[in-house]
Amino acid sequence: MSEKITVIGAGTMGSGIAQIALEAGFQVNLVDTEQGFVDRGIGNILKFVEKKVEKGKLAQVQYDNIFSRLTGTTDVKKAVAGAVMVVEAVFEKFELKKEIFQKLDILCPPDVILASNTSTLSITSLAAATKNPARVIGTHYFSPVPVMRLVEVIRGKETSDTTANKTVELCQKFGKTPIVVKDIPGFIVNRFLCLIYNEAANMIHNGSASAEDIDMAIKLGCNWPMGITEIIDLAGVDVCAFAIEAMYQMTGEERYKPSPLFEKMMAEKKLGRKTGEGFYKYEK
Ligand SMILES: NC(=O)c1ccc[n+]([C@@H]2O[C@H](COP(=O)([O-])OP(=O)(O)OC[C@H]3O[C@@H](n4cnc5c(N)ncnc54)[C@H](O)[C@@H]3O)[C@@H](O)[C@H]2O)c1
Repeated sequence: MSEKITVIGAGTMGSGIAQIALEAGFQVNLVDTEQGFVDRGIGNILKFVEKKVEKGKLAQVQYDNIFSRLTGTTDVKKAVAGAVMVVEAVFEKFELKKEIFQKLDILCPPDVILASNTSTLSITSLAAATKNPARVIGTHYFSPVPVMRLVEVIRGKETSDTTANKTVELCQKFGKTPIVVKDIPGFIVNRFLCLIYNEAANMIHNGSASAEDIDMAIKLGCNWPMGITEIIDLAGVDVCAFAIEAMYQMTGEERYKPSPLFEKMMAEKKLGRKTGEGFYKYEK
């Protein structure tokens, strides 16, 4: 019988993490607060995997096999029974995550790894909410999870070598390339990206360059597949602005002070692709 992974939160990231574990041959139990949310998460996995079958990247037999290993529930206690790792991917709210980690700490035997997919919160602080911080770790996947190759593995102050080594091994089995990073604000990727997004917004705000020229420069001069403001429009102007604000709050460093352009765009509901306009206009 294959090992079992439990994923708490069946949203964008949780369903993606569940999918890569399923494709790697694990049993997966997906948990959310309402059955409707669980079903939506499973539906998203179905859609992704069906596309793979259509494109010939996955055989029908593998497809059937994947779904025989997936279960969804709203019952955390049932869901974590027998799991080797529980990955938390709920909303980015410290109090909510803390409550979940406290519950998991009681429900799971001491050798079960408790991982958080937080993009900003301190793993050391989350771990401090448990009686066994040695088994708490961060696994920061990127969206869309089945496509992006990296995972940042974040060691808290008390994370044990056993937990870190087993987590790296599991991430590799999921087909990802893990890098072990320190528990600092933004870890590695968001630390850079927030600065880059903010600089692009400031340049546009003070008239130094247009969004089109910035994107052209980055695509042709740095070989990025997408321009900076194209990426912000895709991720959401508000999402990026909140991440930069969080970095500013956590570090207190002026270089992360959010560009005034973000506030202006949010007031005008120019949030990117999702509202039909951000740095660019989009056909609805
Ligand atoms: N979206 C991204 O690009 C991205 C990238 C990296 C990391 N993250 C992080 O991943 C986490 C999840 O983000 P997301 O984009 O998937 O959010 P999302 O809003 O798509 O999904 C969150 C899910 O958690 C569920 N949930 C809330 N409380 C719960 C509880 N008590 N028990 C079980 N489920 C609960 C919600 O119902 C929802 O389905 C966040 O910490 C976020 O910062 C997001």
